[in-house]
Amino acid sequence: MMDKPVEDLTEAEARAELARLAKALTEANTAYHTLDAPEISDADYDALKRRNAALEARFPGLKRPDSPSDMVGAALAPGFGKVAHRVRMLSLENAFAETDVVDFDERVKKFLGLTAVTYTAEPKIDGLSLNLRYEGGRLVQAATRGDGETGEDVTANARTIADIPQRLADAPQVMEVRGEVYMSHADFAALNARQAQRGDKPFANPRNAAAGSLRQLDATITAARPLRFFAYAWGELSEALATTQLAAIARLSDLGFTTNPLTVLCHSPAALMEHYRRIEAQRATLGYDIDGVVYKVDDLALQERLGFRSATPRWAIAHKFPAELAWTRLLAIDIQVGRTGALSPVARLQPVTVGGVVVSNATLHNEDYIAGRNSSGQPIREGKDIRVGDWVQVYRAGDVIPKVADVDLSKRKSDAQPYVFPKICPECGSPAHREPGDSVRRCTGGLICPAQGVERLKHFVSRGAFDIEGLGAKQVELFFNDPDLAVRQPADIFTLAARDAASPLKKLKNRDGFGERSVANLFAAIEARRRIALDRLIFALGIRHVGEVAAGLIARHYATWPAFEAAMAAAEPGNPAWEDLLSIDGVGEVLAQSLVDAFRNPAERAAIDALIAELDVQPVQARSTAASDIAGKTLVFTGTLEKMSRAEAKARAEALGAKVAGSVSARTDLVIAGPGAGSKAKDAQRLGVKIIDEDAWIALAGLS
Ligand code: IVH
Repeated sequence: MMDKPVEDLTEAEARAELARLAKALTEANTAYHTLDAPEISDADYDALKRRNAALEARFPGLKRPDSPSDMVGAALAPGFGKVAHRVRMLSLENAFAETDVVDFDERVKKFLGLTAVTYTAEPKIDGLSLNLRYEGGRLVQAATRGDGETGEDVTANARTIADIPQRLADAPQVMEVRGEVYMSHADFAALNARQAQRGDKPFANPRNAAAGSLRQLDATITAARPLRFFAYAWGELSEALATTQLAAIARLSDLGFTTNPLTVLCHSPAALMEHYRRIEAQRATLGYDIDGVVYKVDDLALQERLGFRSATPRWAIAHKFPAELAWTRLLAIDIQVGRTGALSPVARLQPVTVGGVVVSNATLHNEDYIAGRNSSGQPIREGKDIRVGDWVQVYRAGDVIPKVADVDLSKRKSDAQPYVFPKICPECGSPAHREPGDSVRRCTGGLICPAQGVERLKHFVSRGAFDIEGLGAKQVELFFNDPDLAVRQPADIFTLAARDAASPLKKLKNRDGFGERSVANLFAAIEARRRIALDRLIFALGIRHVGEVAAGLIARHYATWPAFEAAMAAAEPGNPAWEDLLSIDGVGEVLAQSLVDAFRNPAERAAIDALIAELDVQPVQARSTAASDIAGKTLVFTGTLEKMSRAEAKARAEALGAKVAGSVSARTDLVIAGPGAGSKAKDAQRLGVKIIDEDAWIALAGLS
């Protein structure tokens, strides 16, 4: 197509050609600027750029947001551009039973100090969420959710979706609309039929098909796949849409968005349940996948007061439909060894369709679960154990890994033997121990266990951690097992390029699946990650109990690597560094001990030191709103608060960047004492900590 004159190209050809040119020029730029290794001559580069400009001149509407004519030289990130969400994209807490819904309503009312709250109820669409940014009524950017803070720029692709307006009349100057991209059952079936015709792999379900279609580097592919969009929320707004959720949705509909017709107002949990059952009854005939019903507090001022937990709003909940079930044969039980040494039994099943997805593996949780006991030794499944060869029931709930739920004893073969859980690690032969009170058996091999080593590396490069483009689970496994590459611990990733350069023969580019360009891209991606934020680093270390949220809290508390490292080295139960660690809201004794243990263990410590020597760790700042007076301070609430619940006070304090602790110590900055304050107020007096009353707190928090 390259030789065809620009004048002769159809619009579709031009679009494809622009995508190809954008890719080629981006790669050339990366090679030139980032790697100092130009791959094409200057003349060829200029020819590509001229052709791109000519195409854009002829088809101005097709100009891509990542157009090479806008490039200023520096290499663009490979793949999709990243978009930092101005307002975080959160997920929802789940409810499964009616009692969860009642509890949700109780919590909301208690938080707000109200006796009744009105909610909206609407289907939970099983697709993927998208943020659409409009400026001056024009669609300027579309981004996926990503990790909630940063998503991928899929603007060119979103423009191909008919349900997404390109222009809005009468919209706020800045308006971000959020909703779900999905594929209808009919379109999904037709797409899979085409896939089969072409000999391509079919998609497992409409959600995967929608995700695969939206995340296409070539927008012409997205355009050929019929995606749809329901709007149900918003991000940044220069002016409010309405004062209630329902009216805001109506406004979105007036602006030209498709909103879900099954959205209603409910004034009680009983009414929510009624709507849930109504939607459930229609589920099979809707023509698109839904996996539950979402309830949201209708009054937007109340939503604002309720605010957020770390990753979910307090004002909404997703009431999920029950899991889908199927029966099949258990062919074998395999043991997988995880990053923390946990031995996890995996059921290998005769493939069976569960809710539209073919399932051949499922989790069996742990050794007690197989034996028919829960973690406190009580019988589950009336005490029935699970044996290889058994007829078992499998279920899927939402995104989670399928589980084995039940077993049919009437179909058990007479010679079936009880399963004997291994007492040594199948990967490294080290003893596998169970600590009292822990239902999990763990390999004691630590870093000598290859399974733990490779799983830790996979975690290290995963999304919330180092997230190195081109270095996923597959490559990690390959590099780990290749004796010449010997990527055995995180530091080895950062020495790989130098070691590869020094090796005269067995270069990475000569290996299967690699070439000059992919290796250059990989090394550039690794290089770029030497600069890493403290929270990502702490999460990446893969220390037991330290998830993404905890890592963020810890990073914001210590701010820099040297401060964090010194604290971990110093902390011991009872000493000030230990107390300081525990003062972080969200850090308990178990997590603290796990952190301290990791820094005490000589092998772990050596691996951490080797890694740090390769990195430039970026400090993290406390997430606080503008210069609030209490940002960075530690507060303690005691006694009764009369104007807001304890939960609301805590949430407000945290939103302003303060920490809320449970007890008063020398590190406390301020105690807010309501009537009936007892020993904590006394402690504060004794320690000379400032004490204020609720009214002073309200003023301080900017609520008066
Ligand atoms: S509201 C702050 N409404 O479910 C919460 N989400 O599990 C904003 N989803 O990430 C989300 N249908 O992708 C909302 N009617 C609906 C939804 C919905 C589907 C998805 C969304 C979200 C996920 C959370």
